[in-house]
Amino acid sequence: MSNRKLAAVRGMNDLLPADAPLWEWFEARVTDWLRSYGYQQIRTPIVEPTELFVKSIGEVTDIVEKEMYSFEDRLNGEQLTLRPEFTAGVMRAIVEHNLTYESPRRLWSMGPLFRHERPQRGRYRQFHQVNVEAVGFAGPDIDAELIVMLARLWKILGIEKAGRVRLELNCLGQGDERARHRQDLVAYLARHETHLDDEARRRLHSNPLRILDSKNPALAEVVIGAPRITDYLGAASRAHFEGVQALLRVAGIEFTINPRMVRGLDYYNLTVFEWITDALGAQGTLCGGGRYDPLIERMGGRPTPGIGFGMGIERVVELIRAAGMPVAPAAVDVYVLHQGGATQPRAFQVAEALRDAGLDVQLHAGEASMRSQMKKADASGAQYAVIVGQSELEQDAAAVKALRPGARRYAEQALVPLPQLGEALVDALVAEAEQDE
Ligand code: HAM
Repeated sequence: MSNRKLAAVRGMNDLLPADAPLWEWFEARVTDWLRSYGYQQIRTPIVEPTELFVKSIGEVTDIVEKEMYSFEDRLNGEQLTLRPEFTAGVMRAIVEHNLTYESPRRLWSMGPLFRHERPQRGRYRQFHQVNVEAVGFAGPDIDAELIVMLARLWKILGIEKAGRVRLELNCLGQGDERARHRQDLVAYLARHETHLDDEARRRLHSNPLRILDSKNPALAEVVIGAPRITDYLGAASRAHFEGVQALLRVAGIEFTINPRMVRGLDYYNLTVFEWITDALGAQGTLCGGGRYDPLIERMGGRPTPGIGFGMGIERVVELIRAAGMPVAPAAVDVYVLHQGGATQPRAFQVAEALRDAGLDVQLHAGEASMRSQMKKADASGAQYAVIVGQSELEQDAAAVKALRPGARRYAEQALVPLPQLGEALVDALVAEAEQDE
């Protein structure tokens, strides 16, 4: 074994302590926001049978064809996959536990997903999503609610300051409408086959819709002239789509209809949408989702309509950072210093007593000079240093010193009896916080 330094898997990132406060801030805002719309959390396993994703996402998709981390369980030979998205697992859980038996469900999840993509800014092999699914609702009102809800989140997060976040919508219709569109699309693309690239030619008969989504500029002209799904919609699909748009207008939400938006997963029908920003370069889709009415039945459940979205946390967090959101790093209230020897176990007790009083406390570990401990106390971001020295202990007291400039209490070091220490510090913190307001 060499002593070569080990590194993380390419495209999989550490969240370092310096960045954690921003993620924590985001997660706290998001959980409040989800609760305010009546969503309940569901957590499903990170590993699921491979077949689940193949069946739901679709065999001829980038995800299933080339991006899944799949492996055989060494012990029983089962084919397993690290989840590349949430929807499939959540739908499996709904069917398995009959969750929509009594009433529809509004569900959310948050966590890591895995796709073997080429890593670049905003695109990783392990990434994170906030995922929302509203299951058992058929009408356009819930489609609009999800979109309105997202518009509210962008405001809560203050990310417009980094650049506009725009909404694109499309309607993919129902099975029969899609079949007719697909037939005409294949015929059209076949007529232009010489202009297609290898990938498009390969997908011509297996997944022609995805050709509309091609990033190859050479295909742009062919794609622009292609038959549009919106011209194939029947009365019911049109009414649904118009219903969504009417509610968005009432809510004052701007959108554009993009008839070429197809989404990368096969389970969608009717409404699909994406929120996009230009502030992040090539990977600007913050959030994508849509309706998947046939999915639950296809997975062995009773026919149940559904709609949801996935939001890329790395991308949204980058926008929050670009918008300059002031997120204070987490800091303790109190840093406890001691002189080593017999003062150390007493400092331990003092720190625990302060935690009993409800304070966040960091206790100096190991032995060091007072000067160097004071430096550490300053760097910790704590508001107060509590010094447990020999002479203080002889008086059953500790010395308290404010660490922040401009502090009104304990700007000068003062002795506080140990039985009153917790209360005195809580009082001081409350007084400072009130002054700040
Ligand atoms: P998706 O469009 O594949 O949809 O992903 C949703 C969002 O996840 C994207 O818009 C993007 O922000 C983020 N994302 C995707 N791949 C990566 C990556 N490699 N690195 C960083 N961020 C990424 C779904 O996953 C559907 N399950 C959403 C859904 C839920 N539809 C209905 N319900």
